[in-house]
Amino acid sequence: MAKYTFSQNFEGWDEFKNLPLQERLPYFFRRDRIYDVLFSQQFNRSFLDTLYDLTNRIRRIAKIREGMLWLADLHSHRRAMLYFVQPSTRTFLSFLNACHILGFRTSEIRSMETSSEIKGESPEDSIRTFSSYVDLIVMRHPQEGFAEKTAWLLNCYSDRPVPVVNAGSGKDQHPTQALLDVYTLQRSFEHRGGIDGKVIAMVGDLKRGRTVRSLSYLLRNYQGVKILYAAPPEFQIGEDIKEFLGHHAIPFEEHGSLEAVLPWADAVYLTRIQDEHDETGRSQSEYSEFSLDPRNLSRMKSDAVIMHPLPRRGEIDVAVDRDPRAIYWRQERNGMWTRAALIATIFGSDRVVSEEGERFLRSV
Ligand code: CP
Repeated sequence: MAKYTFSQNFEGWDEFKNLPLQERLPYFFRRDRIYDVLFSQQFNRSFLDTLYDLTNRIRRIAKIREGMLWLADLHSHRRAMLYFVQPSTRTFLSFLNACHILGFRTSEIRSMETSSEIKGESPEDSIRTFSSYVDLIVMRHPQEGFAEKTAWLLNCYSDRPVPVVNAGSGKDQHPTQALLDVYTLQRSFEHRGGIDGKVIAMVGDLKRGRTVRSLSYLLRNYQGVKILYAAPPEFQIGEDIKEFLGHHAIPFEEHGSLEAVLPWADAVYLTRIQDEHDETGRSQSEYSEFSLDPRNLSRMKSDAVIMHPLPRRGEIDVAVDRDPRAIYWRQERNGMWTRAALIATIFGSDRVVSEEGERFLRSV
């Protein structure tokens, strides 16, 4: 790995971050294994198939007490830090529990107010401090690119680099959400030819929603997928994503209503309006036509699935929860298992789970 010249003003970082993504990606792998998990573009089909096979193994091994205890011994010598300085419920809890399933001891910072950043320490110094104590940093941060900067900084300058996992970076990416979303899609379409050839509708605030951005990138790995984006015009999917899809010859359409996409979709992925970013103060009620309720459910295919990264507000009426096509609670739980598989992969214990874990699977 090349070394960039370190200086207090992070001159090396400015140079690095302006490189095209394809040139930056190799810095986040070690010996052909993923090390820092920062972008959905880091995952290829072979990686996904292997990760999801491992996810299935871990969840089956964990069904029995001896299997769960065996998993919890795998990394009992390791420590993880959850640095979540932006609100989170399920990503935080699923990572925390994924770490515990694999035996990691965990520590957490959930607000800059409770870290020494409040005393004026730079976030970069805080991160270097964490790496003095732990073997893994899982990070949610409001600033786009901060997880990448952290990984770069630790890789280039720290005497004790540790892997960094992006658990949501501003409005940019949420790669591990995309991993669990695609795992959920794969399980849903298991007996219908898999994800290949399916029509995926993404609905809501697509401009500021990092989950749909990461999911769009990840769907590149499946053949014949078509994406339908349904959003108010001011919240349509970004030009950078459209360019990416065009470059990879992935067909997509943009629509101005939910009604227009419902009859055609094999999966309807709803998202909330991210009004925490609102500068105009437009109310949620103005977007109620992008909500699913028992009335418009009948327009969907009988075997389609309804997904949502959660938290939801008005986008899905609670009455929809009873519909067998609603899989968002399962999707949420899948996050814990895919994240456990991801951490096991980063630490190279995927092989031991696959080989030695087999004995537990025989008894399930
Ligand atoms: N899906 C998701 O990222 O949820 P949280 O914000 O609760 O972590």
